[in-house]
Parts: sequence; structure tokens; C-alpha cells
Amino acid sequence: MDSSRMNYISLIRERHSTRAYEPHALTERDREEVAGAIASAVPLRSSGHLLHWALAERSVMGCSTLLYAQCDPSEEQLLEYGYQGEQIVLALLANGWGTCWYASVRLPGSPCSIAVGRPSREGPRAAITAMMARGYTRRPLEKLLTNPVPEDCSPIVLTVLNSARLAPSAVNRQPWTFQVVSDNEVVISTEGDRFLDLGICAAHAMVTARQLTGKATIRWLSRGRLSVSW
Ligand SMILES: Cc1cc2nc3c(=O)[nH]c(=O)nc-3n(C[C@H](O)[C@H](O)[C@H](O)COP(=O)(O)O)c2cc1C
Repeated sequence: MDSSRMNYISLIRERHSTRAYEPHALTERDREEVAGAIASAVPLRSSGHLLHWALAERSVMGCSTLLYAQCDPSEEQLLEYGYQGEQIVLALLANGWGTCWYASVRLPGSPCSIAVGRPSREGPRAAITAMMARGYTRRPLEKLLTNPVPEDCSPIVLTVLNSARLAPSAVNRQPWTFQVVSDNEVVISTEGDRFLDLGICAAHAMVTARQLTGKATIRWLSRGRLSVSW
């Protein structure tokens, strides 16, 4: 699906990690769909390039394929990995695929992989995943803010922040804080070196701002700090 026509805000609210899949071998058409999702991602830096995402035949939890790319452990590359990977996740979700990031499954040269498959709606694992699904498992927005949101704050800011809040993270750590700079800029920061998670969170903020305003810019400010403006 053309990324300018995708309803990212709904996709972000629906998304949860899929850990139970239907047995399904990828067809040629499926591979084209996955390739289309990869092509829909944009790099975080304007000077950056798309990572070389590849499909591995290995199956985890019954998924159809694992997506991964080679990436060195620098901040720049890990930010790109999370940022591009989560855009691919959302584009796959729009086509009915289920996904789960796996730090525990590292293919050669990659920090983690993304399981992709047709979600199973039956069986105990599917039931548990559905029970754990979404929203309830996230920290409230107030706890993630470094400054209170101004009372007359634009609803766009709140929608962008809520999308960022719902980003997946390893062990659901949610290792980020948000600062409202103005009605068209927020800063997302992470402590320590959770750069991949930060890239994922920035992807949610970017696609939401882009959907609402038609444009979004990400700027690297300093180690672990990204500005999202629109
Ligand atoms: C970078 C990253 C690594 C993850 N690694 C694993 C993993 O190894 N095993 C697993 O079951 N889930 C893994 N997850 C999924 C998270 O546990 C999940 O995203 C989080 O609990 C929030 O749940 P949700 O994705 O359903 O919203 C990972 C998620 C991210 C973003």
C-alpha cells in the first residue's frame, strides 16, 4: 500500500507483538508485499540510506520469515535499524501481517530480527497475546514527560506523543522521555544506549506527524536525543 494513504495512527493503536502464527509458506506475491513494505521506509537522516533488509528462512514461533539487516553497533546505525524496521512493521500490519521484534534472535551481523507471519487467532498462545495486547501495558503519558504539556497545546502534539508512547521496546522497557518544545516540535530522549528502541519510538512520532500535517522532520540533537518537528 502507498505509504501516503496508510492510516498510521490507527495502525499504531492496533499493533501488538504477534507470537502465534498460522503455518504459511511465503508465496511470490507475499515476498513482493514484504519488499514493498521495506521500500516504504525512509531513513532517519536525510543523508542516510536504507539498510539492506533481507529475509531469513528460519522460523521462530511458527512465523513465515525473519527480517534482518547487517548493522554495526553505533548509535547512528541502531537508530536507523529501529526507525526503518518499525516503519516496515507498520506497513506489513497494513497488509494483515503480524510481526514481533526479537532481540533474542540475532542473524549474522544484526542486532535483532523481526518475525513476520499470518497471525493465528486460535490456540493458547494467541489468547495470551491478545490478553496482553496494547495500551494497558504502557506508562501514562504524564510519567514520560519532562515538562508539563501546556493547557492550550495543539491536539497534534498530543496525538504524536501518544503514538510515540505506544511504540514497542525490548522487554517493554519504554526507555524514553518526551519534551514538548512548541506546538510543532517534540524531543524524544533515551537514557543509556537504548538507541534501537529510540529509533522505533521516533518512527511512531514521525509517521503520525506526517499523516496529520503532510510533513515531518527528524533531527539528531545529541547522544540519545532526537527532535521531531512538523
Ligand atoms: C528491540 C526489541 C526487541 C524485542 N525482543 C523480544 C524478544 O526477544 N522476545 C520477545 O518475546 N519479545 C521481544 N520484543 C517484543 C516486546 O516484548 C514487546 O514489543 C513489548 O512487550 C510491548 O508489547 P507490544 O509489542 O505487544 O506492544 C522486543 C521488542 C523490541 C522493540
